[in-house]
Order: sequence, then C-alpha cells, then structure tokens
Amino acid sequence: MARLPGTAGYGEDAEALTRQYEEVAFEEIHGDLLPWLPSTPGRVVDIGAGSGRDAAALAARGYEVVAVEPTAELRRIGQRLHPDAAIVWVDDALPFLAGLCGPFDLVLLSAVWMHLDELERVDAMRRVAELTTPAGCVAISLRHGPPPAGRRMFAVSAAETVALAEQFGLFAVHRGEGPDRLSRANVHWSKLVFRMQGRTVAKGKQ
Ligand SMILES: C[S@@+](CC[C@H](N)C(=O)[O-])C[C@H]1O[C@@H](n2cnc3c(N)ncnc32)[C@H](O)[C@@H]1O
Repeated sequence: MARLPGTAGYGEDAEALTRQYEEVAFEEIHGDLLPWLPSTPGRVVDIGAGSGRDAAALAARGYEVVAVEPTAELRRIGQRLHPDAAIVWVDDALPFLAGLCGPFDLVLLSAVWMHLDELERVDAMRRVAELTTPAGCVAISLRHGPPPAGRRMFAVSAAETVALAEQFGLFAVHRGEGPDRLSRANVHWSKLVFRMQGRTVAKGKQ
C-alpha cells in the first residue's frame, strides 16, 4: 500500500518504536479494556497494530486476531516477533479498510485515531461500526499531547469521539483518562469503550 499521510515517520523509526511499544504489557496499557473483552472464542481486529504487542496478547487469550498495519516495516517486524498462527496480518488502512472482512467481536484502535483528519474520522467510524458484531465492542485510545517530529496527528477529544460514535449506533460504556505508560512528557490518554445500543454489561458485572 502507498504511504499514507498518517503513517509518516513510522517506517523510518520502526525498530526503535517497536522497542518502545513492546516494553509495556497489553494488560498495563489496556487495563480499562479487560472487563469488556468478549468471551472466547471470538474474532478481534487490531487496526494500526504496530509491532503486534496487542494482537499477540489477544491471540494468547484465545481470540482469532486480524492485525491490520499499513506500515510495511512494522508489519514485517510484527510477523517476525509474534509468529502466532492465530494472527493474520493484513496490509490495509483506515478510513475504508476496503479489503477487511468482518464482523468482529472486538475492534481495537490503540493510538491510531488521532492520525485521521476530521473527514477521515467520519468514514472510519462508519466502517468500524459496520465491522462490529451487534454484541461486539469497539475500544479506542486517544493520544493527547504534542506530536513527535515528522508525524501527522490531529487534536481529537474524547467528547467529539463519543458524539461521532453515537451517530453510527455505538455508545460509550467506559470513559477513562490516564497517564502515558511510556512516560513521555506532556502526553496523556483517553480510553473509550463502545458497544452497540442496549449492550452495556461488563464481564463480572452481569
Ligand atoms: C502509535 S502507533 C500504535 C501502534 C499500536 N496500536 C500500539 O498501540 O502500540 C500508530 C499506528 O497506526 C498506524 N496507522 C497510521 N495511519 C493509519 C491508518 N490510516 N490506518 C491504519 N493504521 C494506521 C501506523 O502505521 C502505526 O502502526
């Protein structure tokens, strides 16, 4: 796939970024999501999967995982680091994910959404909703703070994302805020979990 504006800087820095991403466990980064994980077996898609840290953790938990990653260098590293048969790597990109076959019980967008501009976010949310099963979950983490040099990022708020998701039938069941687990100065995160209307019960709270 041709280089997309949102992937600027990732290919060149892929090895160093991988070391950073793999330093922290899925459970530490995505603790908010744990109560909302679908029951297994199930299908998960990790969009903008990077080095595959989350895809690998989800495969280890028993899901069939599609890891979508448009940056070839990161995709290759992910395949090498996490050669799990339960992970299928795909070269595709938001907003349209034209080659992706759903539906999925969990759609994960970890640190990706802020790479999309306002119009792309509308198309992307429509596609994410289409790809989610009626009882499925969508998890989005939003990075707030100055972008690193050479990357394309937009300021995206949790409130705006919640309002956009509602237009496509996805309702926030969890909203959290947290510090940067990689200790980067001036960076913090919003953690959002959505479900289709009417499905609001987390695991262990049934
Ligand atoms: C900050 S990294 C996050 C990687 C991984 N999800 C994580 O949490 O460690 C952002 C990732 O989004 C990917 N990306 C950028 N634009 C994208 C798009 N339009 N569609 C899908 N992925 C995209 C980049 O290639 C990169 O792997």
